[in-house]
Amino acid sequence: MTDTLSTWGGWEPAIRDDPFSHFAETRARCPVQRVRLADGHPAWVVLGYNAARQALNDARISKDMLAALEDNGDIVAEGLPGPEFSRHMLNVDPPDHTRLRRLVSRAFVPSRIAALEPAIRSITDDLLDELDAAGPGATVDLIQGYAHPLPFRVIGELLGIPAADRPRLHAWFQVLLTCWAGDPPSEAVEASDGIVAYLRELVDAKRQSPSDDLVSVLVAAEDDALTTQELLSTLFQLVVAGHDTTASLIGNAVVALLDHPGQLDALLADPGRLPAAIDELIRFTAPVPHATFRVTTEPVTLDGVPIPPHQQVLVCLGSANRDPGRFPSPDVLDISRSDGPNLGFGHGIHYCLGAPLARLEARVAFEALLGRHPGLRLAVDRDALTWAHGDGLVLRGLVSLPVVLGPSRRQVVLGPSRPQG
Ligand code: HEM
Repeated sequence: MTDTLSTWGGWEPAIRDDPFSHFAETRARCPVQRVRLADGHPAWVVLGYNAARQALNDARISKDMLAALEDNGDIVAEGLPGPEFSRHMLNVDPPDHTRLRRLVSRAFVPSRIAALEPAIRSITDDLLDELDAAGPGATVDLIQGYAHPLPFRVIGELLGIPAADRPRLHAWFQVLLTCWAGDPPSEAVEASDGIVAYLRELVDAKRQSPSDDLVSVLVAAEDDALTTQELLSTLFQLVVAGHDTTASLIGNAVVALLDHPGQLDALLADPGRLPAAIDELIRFTAPVPHATFRVTTEPVTLDGVPIPPHQQVLVCLGSANRDPGRFPSPDVLDISRSDGPNLGFGHGIHYCLGAPLARLEARVAFEALLGRHPGLRLAVDRDALTWAHGDGLVLRGLVSLPVVLGPSRRQVVLGPSRPQG
């Protein structure tokens, strides 16, 4: 019976480049279906908006994959860097989830996020200066030179990772995230070991001399409110959740705007539309096309489809956000949409804690980039763009984005970035 299951993931290049018609065809057959993952494990994929929203907010569908592994080791594959670093809020249920999320939330209160804006602006300006140094007609890589380093530096600021250490740590995370799926090659194991050792040292250093950063806040809560394993896991998860996601959003959004020049012109004419545009770009480009894995602890019925206990559940946010039952003309990018929130940042108790930070980073990134280079264009054929992450399901982003930025504007039109020249 299981042999008749269709495979989910293990994308052919054509599907990975544009998964949305594949999502639509599968969703039209049934919004909830049993599939086989590329690693051979079975799972239930949830494609319809209503079923996805329910699955993300149903207490009978657990995020504790380690417990699931003990209950039924056959359903889930373990990932790097192993269980030692897996005890973070996205991998546990209440009451542990409530406790861990509350501790980290202190760093994400609106006033603290807003206070990061000048630092984010200064990072974007520095990165654009570096790209501009190549000259107005030069081809530059917007992923490696802008979309990726920006959120990594920001999460480094927030956590209190010394600037000198960030390139080393960033390189390890890059290796780890591109090898996320399947059997880890030796370089991924090395990167994982490097990250583990580095985060241990960082925590030791903050124990000796604490400051005003998130690592110090968490170290102060250690023992009373969280274990060392939870502390290290939390740091690991924040770095992972905090950079590749936002980098993918920036890259995907640039491509979507270049594909839709009318929408880009509307933004350039009225930059006040950026916040709404960012949410529409998340809906349309799916930087996080699937939520992380979940598992049923009891029988659950989603959109009329019964799922037994101990089954892996994969919510396809990229499909739910293009469900025509929820979003009229879902395949149209429209920054003036007023259809209400989408599921791009998830839903329920695991709703993205970093959403306000991601929105701020994206807004500043676009204000600075489009303000300086409103005429930027692709330097390669649209079809030559390469989408990253192997068979990984959780992220959708570009390996590189070669663009010609064009002349730098002396007068910056969007946002209060530094004038150039
Ligand atoms: C465009 C950028 C981002 C997108 C699209 C995104 C998306 C998501 C999604 C879909 C979830 C829920 C996953 C699930 O339920 O399985 C999530 C959770 C989370 N995200 Fe984000 N994220 C982004 C940026 C960030 C940033 C910048 C941070 C922090 C610096 C962050 C921190 C978190 C955390 C801590 C969770 C777990 C929340 C919990 O379990 O209670 N994210 N994110």
